Order: sequence, then C-alpha cells, then structure tokens
Amino acid sequence: MTKTYADKSAACNTSDNPHFSSLIEQLDLPLSRRNFFAGGGALLAGLSLSGLPGVAAAAARAGQAALTPPQALKAVSLGFAGIPLGTDDTVKVPAGYQVQVLYAWGDPVGLSGNMPPFRQDASNSWQEQAAQAGMHHDGMRYFPLVNAGSRQRGLMAINHEYTDDGLLHVGGMANWNADKQKKAMAAHGVSVIEIEQRDGQWSVVRPSRYARRVTAYTPIALSGPAAGHALLRTADDASGREVLGTFANCANGWTPWGTYLTCEENWHGYFTDWSDNGDPKGFNAKRYGLKGADAGYRWADADFRFDAQLNPNEPNRFGWVVEIDPFEPDAKPVKRTALGRFKHEGACLSVAPSGQCVFYMGDDEKFEYIYKFVTAKAWNKNDRKANRNLLDDGTLYVARFNADGSGEWLELSHGKPGLTAEHGFADQGELLIKTRLAADKLGATKMDRPEWTAVNPHNPGEVFCTLTNNSDRGKEGKPGTDAANPRANNLFGHIIRWVEAGNDPTAKQFNWSIFALAGNPDAKDANHRGNIKGDIFGSQDGLYYAETGILWIQTDVSTTTINAKEYAGMGNNQMLAANPQTGEVRRFLVGPRGCELTGITFSADHKTLFVNIQHPGEPSSERSDPAKPQAISNWPDGPDGGRPRSATLAITRVDGGVIGI
Ligand code: FEO
Ligand code: CA
Ligand code: CA
Repeated sequence: MTKTYADKSAACNTSDNPHFSSLIEQLDLPLSRRNFFAGGGALLAGLSLSGLPGVAAAAARAGQAALTPPQALKAVSLGFAGIPLGTDDTVKVPAGYQVQVLYAWGDPVGLSGNMPPFRQDASNSWQEQAAQAGMHHDGMRYFPLVNAGSRQRGLMAINHEYTDDGLLHVGGMANWNADKQKKAMAAHGVSVIEIEQRDGQWSVVRPSRYARRVTAYTPIALSGPAAGHALLRTADDASGREVLGTFANCANGWTPWGTYLTCEENWHGYFTDWSDNGDPKGFNAKRYGLKGADAGYRWADADFRFDAQLNPNEPNRFGWVVEIDPFEPDAKPVKRTALGRFKHEGACLSVAPSGQCVFYMGDDEKFEYIYKFVTAKAWNKNDRKANRNLLDDGTLYVARFNADGSGEWLELSHGKPGLTAEHGFADQGELLIKTRLAADKLGATKMDRPEWTAVNPHNPGEVFCTLTNNSDRGKEGKPGTDAANPRANNLFGHIIRWVEAGNDPTAKQFNWSIFALAGNPDAKDANHRGNIKGDIFGSQDGLYYAETGILWIQTDVSTTTINAKEYAGMGNNQMLAANPQTGEVRRFLVGPRGCELTGITFSADHKTLFVNIQHPGEPSSERSDPAKPQAISNWPDGPDGGRPRSATLAITRVDGGVIGI
C-alpha cells in the first residue's frame, strides 16, 4: 500500500574510503586539536578528558554537589567595531573582514561522475537535486582533515532543513506530481562536502570520496531503547528498525569521536491525516501538533507513508537525533532514540570529568522543555569503534527551573513515579516515543521556545540556551510568566544560562540566571524592553560558545514577527558576538533580505568562520508562488540570477587573524 522510493545509491557511491582505524591517525579530529590562537592555553576543554578547570576538578574529585555561580573561565575582548542594523540585500560584516559564498542550494556536492550544475530556472531533475546542495541550510559542523597552516582541508556536514516548493520547481507547486515530490525529498536532509583552503580561498573539493547526500528517502537505522518497538513498525518495515529518510533537520551537534548529529525539528508538518480532517485524536495530534488535511506540504499526495491515517506509526519514526559518520560515506545513518523524540533543535556536547558525554537539547515550540542526555559510559578516545553505539545507552533528563535560581534535572526513565504502564508508558521505548508526554508528568518548566544550546568550552558545566520568543506567554488559557520566563507576550525572547553542580554536566542540580533579555532597552512596554549591553537584537536562535571565549548569537526573526510594530527598525536578521563575562554585545553580520542566520562552525585554526544564510527572500509562505521570494531577494546571484539561494559562507579576516578577537 505504501509507496516508497527505492533509490538508495545516488548519495552514496563511494566504496574506496579507507577504514577509519587507519584514517584516524591522519586526522586532526577535535580530540587532537592543539592550541591555535594567540595566548590560548587550553585544549578544547569541552572535548578533553583532562580539560576540567582546577576548581571544578577539585569539586568533582571530592564528590561535592556544591552549586557554583555562573562563570566564564576565559577572558575575552571583542576585537572589531560593531556594524549598524541594515535592510540591504547583501551580507555586511565589520571592516577588515571578507565574505565568500562557498556552497549554495543547487551547487554540486562532488559525487564522482555526477556533478550537475545548478539551473536558475529550477529545471534540475530530482536525480540531479540528489547530487546537489539541498535547500535551506541550517546547522553544520566542520571536521578537520588537514590543518597545515596555509593549507586546510576538512569535511563539512550541513543540514538542509526544509524546502520552498515555489522556488524548487518549474511552476512551483502547480501540477504537483511524483517527480516534484521526489525533488522536494531530495532537497531535504544533509550534505557532506569536502572543502579546502588554498591561498586564503575556500572551495569545495570535487569530486570527493567523502561527498554525500542524505535525503528524505535515504535508509536510516533506528537504534536504542525504542528500536523495534511496536509503535515504530509499519507495513514497509515490520522490524521497526529502518526508516527511509530524515527531514526538518534544524540545528545540529557533534561527538568527540568525530560524528555529526542532525536534529529533526518540525517533522509534524510533513504528515497529513485526511480522515480526521484536522481533528485527530492520537498523541501525535494532541501533543506534537500533527495536523489534518492542511499540513503545508503535499508529500502525502504522492507517497502514502505520509498519510498518518494509513500509516499511523510513520510519524513516530521522526523527531529524533540522527548520527552520521562523515568519514564513512557508506555507513548508514542512525536515529538514536535514547535522546528522546520531540521537535529537536540541536544537541550540544559537553564532556564530563568522568568522560561521559552530555548533550543539551531544546524542544522548539511554545511552552516546551529543555532536555539533556547523559551517556552511561565514558567515550573511548583510543578506539573509535567502541563509541559506535555509545548514544544508545544513557539517561534522558528534562529541566525544571525553580524560582529561587536553582534547578533540577528530572529523570525520564521508565518506572519512575508517573512514568509507568498505568500512565501510558509500557516501557522505555514508549516513553521515548512520547517524550513530551513523559516530561509533562514530571513537572518540567515550560519555556519560551528553546532553540540552540551552547556549552562553555572552558567550563563543561556552563551552558546557555536561546529562548527565541513566545507571544502566547500570559495569554488567556496559556501559562503565565515564571522566573525563568519572566515576560508576557515575549516577542523578543531571552537567553538563559545555567551552571551544573560542581561544574559537572552529569549533575542533577544546577543554578540558573538570565543572561540577557532581548529587545530594545528603550522600548516603552516592559515586556518588550531588553537589557542588552550594546547592539540590540531579538528572536535569537543560533548560539555557539567559541574557544576564543566569544558567545555567538544568530537571529531568526520570522516573517510574521518581523512585520510586528515592535520590530520596526530592526532590519534584516543578524549575527552578534557577546562577551559572556560582561554581557557586552556587538553586531558582527547583517544578512540579506528575508533570511535567517543559522549554522555556525569554525576552521581548526579559528581563522575562518562558517555560517549559513537560510531562506533569503522570505516571506515564502506562498509556497506555490515562485515570484514572491524573488521580489524580495535575489541573493547571492544578483539580478542576473534571480532565484534566491540559501548558502554557506566562509568569513575570514583580511589580515588572516583569528575571528572576533
Ligand atoms: Fe529550525 Fe527552531 O529552528
Ligand atoms: Ca533554529
Ligand atoms: Ca527559529
């Protein structure tokens, strides 16, 4: 009954990659990264077993659970002049910096023998799209291969979160058919590209044995406690252990053994439940927002597995964190169910003194939660294979932020009070599939849309999280304000910060504070008034705490919000650098019209900053009208191109220095 796509090979045509055990010796993986910036005295503390600062290490050794105040352990000073807000259809950066467009939607990935050029009239076939960059780049991570001063080479894994079908196809969504469906699916997922820098210029290596596309129809394994569960079995997959595809890949994470994590966020929008006509009764509808007939996309038209009436378990196979090994292009990606199922934003790594890996994760929807996952075992730095299933065994927690500034991690383990069969959780697998419902039982704190988390690389117990906005906070029938979400009609959002007990990310208690309330400090309405020290921003989303000590902030003021009178004069979406110690914020980049800034990673020498420009030309809610985005933006190709394209940027200093300081 269910249609599926048999193509499994377009993205994975390499067979000659060396086995990783021999390869790892040649790699400059995060573990072996050496100091790279002037005066830098620390390894990547967050990735180093020995990197704990002295105070925290002493506390950990003593088994203390003492709560310590928020602290950044490395001084930082911002070394550039902030730039003004802007509305131009360009990328603006400070004086002394330069921008290169590296990899835009439609650019060839670099599959040997299959490198179709992008066609601005959208006439690339679905097979060609499967060998090209997908649409709407989001989270990404650079994995160094060679770091030899003037010459650098590495792999970049990049999420392609969603499509604007108005732009993707000739004629937009009109005359929707199976080929348009396949092209849309091919434009989702992940790219792995090989890139190199020579004489200051970055380029994509084509062809590359590492080049790969993971799409919405690539076979992916389900692993961990929910794998094989009855709720994950379908007519096509009686085992409940293999899914076709990943999509809605929003923010990301990485592991210390050099794998990439891609996080499934707004997967619910791809499913239709026609028979229920918008009023379905299941837990996916009640708690995960699965809609009826008007799902936005038309995937169910041509592939019945996206009709949740016909395939009620298919939605359960999405909403996970997916691990991809960029160094092994033939290795099957794996959905790691132990990390829970929700609308995953990202999964930010911290490494505990014990060597256990901790991943902080936001669930991006109004009044949803912040989670963390703690692996049961330490990671093995000497045997990469030994880490292969490390993410299948561990403990998932959800956060409660108390009014007195303390906080607790509540354990989402089957058998705990409220998490038993009589409450609807027959086993840990069912609990994980229904993570949101389990978190409800524990009294976790309902947050203002948790987006990215960022861990201080010099203190593995200090974490920041963007709470992008929540216009429903305090509305009738909705939760009111609380200490951690203190503003009603929170249009600008805030950034929360916490420090784990003993600076140990495996701790069950923490102290928290609000790092910044976004919005203009001069706003009349207290709910919209910020306390930012420096350049203003709102609807912060991307967040990355760099080894330089800079906390990088990227904004995503959405189409509907940017037209609100409260955002008047705020201009295009932007990226800023914050000093976590002083709270000072400076604007570093302003994007082209209609874009959001997202995705952030650095080269091994920290002299190149990679960021993504996503969806230039929004609003594109008129998915079927290809003219709409083009009327707003034609970045990056300009008037002679016309069709706006999401793209990865490489940003360097003209003098070749370290970014931001
Ligand atoms: Fe895809 Fe919550 O951003
Ligand atoms: Ca986001
Ligand atoms: Ca966002």
